[in-house]
Amino acid sequence: MDERRQEPVRWYALCAAGALDKGAIHRTELHGEGLVVWRADDGRVNVWEDRCPHRGVRLSLGHHRGDTLQCQYHGWRFASGEGACRAVPAHPHASAPPIHATTWPAIERYGFVWTCARAEGAAPTAFPAIDALAAARPPDCVPLRTTTMDADLASVKRALSAYVLPQADAAECAAFECESGTLTVESLDGAACPAIFVLQPAQKGKTRVHGVVPGDFDAAQRLALQRAHQARLNAVRDALEAVSEVQPDALTGSLAEAPAQNRTPRAQLSPVAVTMALVRMDAAPSAMSPAIDASNQASSEEDGPFTVHLARSGGSVDVPANTSLLDALRAHGAEVPTSCEQGVCGTCLTPVLDGEPLHRDVWLDARERAAGDCMLVCVSRARTPTLTLDL
Ligand code: FES
Repeated sequence: MDERRQEPVRWYALCAAGALDKGAIHRTELHGEGLVVWRADDGRVNVWEDRCPHRGVRLSLGHHRGDTLQCQYHGWRFASGEGACRAVPAHPHASAPPIHATTWPAIERYGFVWTCARAEGAAPTAFPAIDALAAARPPDCVPLRTTTMDADLASVKRALSAYVLPQADAAECAAFECESGTLTVESLDGAACPAIFVLQPAQKGKTRVHGVVPGDFDAAQRLALQRAHQARLNAVRDALEAVSEVQPDALTGSLAEAPAQNRTPRAQLSPVAVTMALVRMDAAPSAMSPAIDASNQASSEEDGPFTVHLARSGGSVDVPANTSLLDALRAHGAEVPTSCEQGVCGTCLTPVLDGEPLHRDVWLDARERAAGDCMLVCVSRARTPTLTLDL
């Protein structure tokens, strides 16, 4: 199910604003949508769909050119702000065509770049005040390295509700929820420095955890805090991955976000997922080995031969192990429009009516891959013995 439909529109942090220097181009995802985040020379931050409106190549593969972002494929340039096409190198004397990069709302606040997925044609919701982050403005805070976890937002939130701060024990820590996927972990006796985690639902089933520790620390203290938190975040990540490998459904479920003025302490956010993960990590590895062996065997067979049925024109095409699907289709006389033939432009996108494609391109996003109803035939193959294409 589309993760965006499971919750109302919210603002989410995409990256630390300080990590986005002028000239930097950052690729990320929100709810499976590929996004490019970049800062123009005038300091303005842009969040755009990571897809050139000309031929669909990822703009994050392109080049920063002052106040424009240039697609690496045909060199089209798109302007900071509205994303309007400004120049087409192949036609230097013609006016630029009236197309735009698809822009998303972009706000730089509390040391992060934020965006929200707005409904078609609707204005974004107002950016919320997040009191916990307002008190943690850079540079008076220690940024933690962003950690990507193989679990959905609700599961990560639940796992972090059991987070233990450095220099505290579990009984002394409490987690509170704020707006927009923000969670604070505090020491009840005030002896340990609090931590603030800002969660980003990235690709399907993956969540990025950004974090800061508010306060003024010297260099040695900053390093010690960063190391201690990284070790704890790694442990949470490993525990979540262990649960999802053994029993994917164990992490499902949702946890409503409470408004900032009505924070929910950890006592009501059961850390059941992490407890279960730690127990399961002790399980005999032999219980998991058959599945791992089976998947290794499957991957060694993925490049093998397969057969493609052509639904519209009739006939079948055998694709040998050492031949690309595109070459086999051409040899059969099937016509497929192509351009890059490297899986980056999207020109050869073909509907799949039956069978499971093995995607090898960089053009489709995570949701499109998971849907399995289209493929780029210049580089991709089949996971199943046969595929039926709408050709
Ligand atoms: S993705 Fe460019 S031709 Fe296939």
